[in-house]
Amino acid sequence: MSELPSPVGPRDGDVTERIANGLREKGYSIILDALPPPITEDLLKRIIELEPGDFKPAGIGRQGALLVNPFVRRDHILWLDATHPADSAYLIWMETLRQGLNRRLFLGLFDYECHFAHYPPGAFYKRHLDAFKGDTNRVVTTVLYLNPGWTVADGGELRLYTLNGDEISPRILPVFGTLVVFLSADFPHAVAVANRHRYSVTGWFRVNTPMD
Ligand code: OGA
Ligand code: MN
Repeated sequence: MSELPSPVGPRDGDVTERIANGLREKGYSIILDALPPPITEDLLKRIIELEPGDFKPAGIGRQGALLVNPFVRRDHILWLDATHPADSAYLIWMETLRQGLNRRLFLGLFDYECHFAHYPPGAFYKRHLDAFKGDTNRVVTTVLYLNPGWTVADGGELRLYTLNGDEISPRILPVFGTLVVFLSADFPHAVAVANRHRYSVTGWFRVNTPMD
């Protein structure tokens, strides 16, 4: 079964199946309105209730060597809190997705970590890879966008590239409810300058041993 041209929508069929097919056939999947609306709406309410000071400047690099570099990225992040009902509902949905992807693709995904991200106007994230083959336990990246009424003029598109540097179309607008899933080590990507406050939940399914 092949995936529909992306971005696809509206929500129908088995979302897990569509994501698995996208990962298998292209290495990525873009799905509009992927999650049940109450989950996405509660995450948006949660974002609105957060104070700017709840977010911290995002770093680059791994664990011990985390550096804040405003020339590379200017987003601010907040890790999800599993004790909060909105975050918990999202994490449960992602756990179902994890199990579904493992059943279909034998990826051995072991757990999931994720944070809210806030790009204030002017913020961006230069082209980067979330994971390097042989050097990571991040295998699959997910990004869920939480921006009602986002338009092209608002900027902030996600751009995906092949490892050869070719841009993959289409550029992805961070529209409320859109979920992007891709293989972390296979797709360099960048976030264009956002002209409005831009919110998302970014996460990674991980394996528990480094890949080789
Ligand atoms: C990231 C990232 C993309 C986006 O946080 O690593 O690339 O569209 N986010 O927010
Ligand atoms: Mn990234």
